[in-house]
Amino acid sequence: MTKRKNAVTVPDLAARKGGTPIVCLTAYTTPMARIMDAHVDVMLVGDSLGMVLYGMDTTLGVSVDMMIAHGRAVMRGAEHACVVVDLPFASYQESPAAAYRTAARVMQETGCDAVKLEGGVEMAETVAFLAARGIPVMGHVGLKPQSVKAMGGFAVQGKDEDAARRLIADAKAIAAAGAFTLVVEGTMEPVARAITSAVPIPTIGIGASAACDGQVLVVDDILGLFADFTPKFVKRYAELAPEIEAAVKAYADEVRSRAFPGDEHCFGAKRGTAPKLIKG
Ligand code: KIV
Repeated sequence: MTKRKNAVTVPDLAARKGGTPIVCLTAYTTPMARIMDAHVDVMLVGDSLGMVLYGMDTTLGVSVDMMIAHGRAVMRGAEHACVVVDLPFASYQESPAAAYRTAARVMQETGCDAVKLEGGVEMAETVAFLAARGIPVMGHVGLKPQSVKAMGGFAVQGKDEDAARRLIADAKAIAAAGAFTLVVEGTMEPVARAITSAVPIPTIGIGASAACDGQVLVVDDILGLFADFTPKFVKRYAELAPEIEAAVKAYADEVRSRAFPGDEHCFGAKRGTAPKLIKG
């Protein structure tokens, strides 16, 4: 594992309420973690990796083993950022004890700093159980991708007054249970603003406006790597998919035309630099 110097800690993040916005991006691999590490406060090993890396339609098929493999990979590239690993679907919802077993295994086997789980009022007991036993929990309310089937799709949450009230109650319950930060996904600006002022912990928004105490996005989305669709809340800071395609095409063309490899890429291609293997 990479030696961690002045790494951002869970208490550092918890103390950022109302301060400089928390910068969070997802990370799934060592090379990307190395590139991102110095620039972000949090690298989230999100279960979005099921959709982004494995081509799944939802996050429901992601396993604990997958999260651990990618959590370990990100930890190898993390010196500075706080690393949070998602608990995947069906690995924690059953009971606080089940959640503890999964979270403890994830923390032991990856070395990550904290775990994230989705849920509101119904998960507050579990969050309290973990927090009381030394497992830092990042909550996640609003649009909860692991509940996509129950929600009937990836729709904006808290649109009417009742739904907004329930969402604010979810946020308060998770904060009161001891979560150190709270992801608020896919809701209206006034609801995100109300949540942010109602809870004492930093909120980290995704599709939840600038009213939050920080922001998180899926890194492949901001890089233009995940081109299947671009949600309204994503800003693309690069368009890497066409660049990658152009590079792959150039390589393929050069292999087919024998322009690659050139002498400069070969061992012993220069006259007299290799032992004579063939007599004659
Ligand atoms: O799985 C994920 O990447 C997430 C974030 C986008 C919040 O939960």
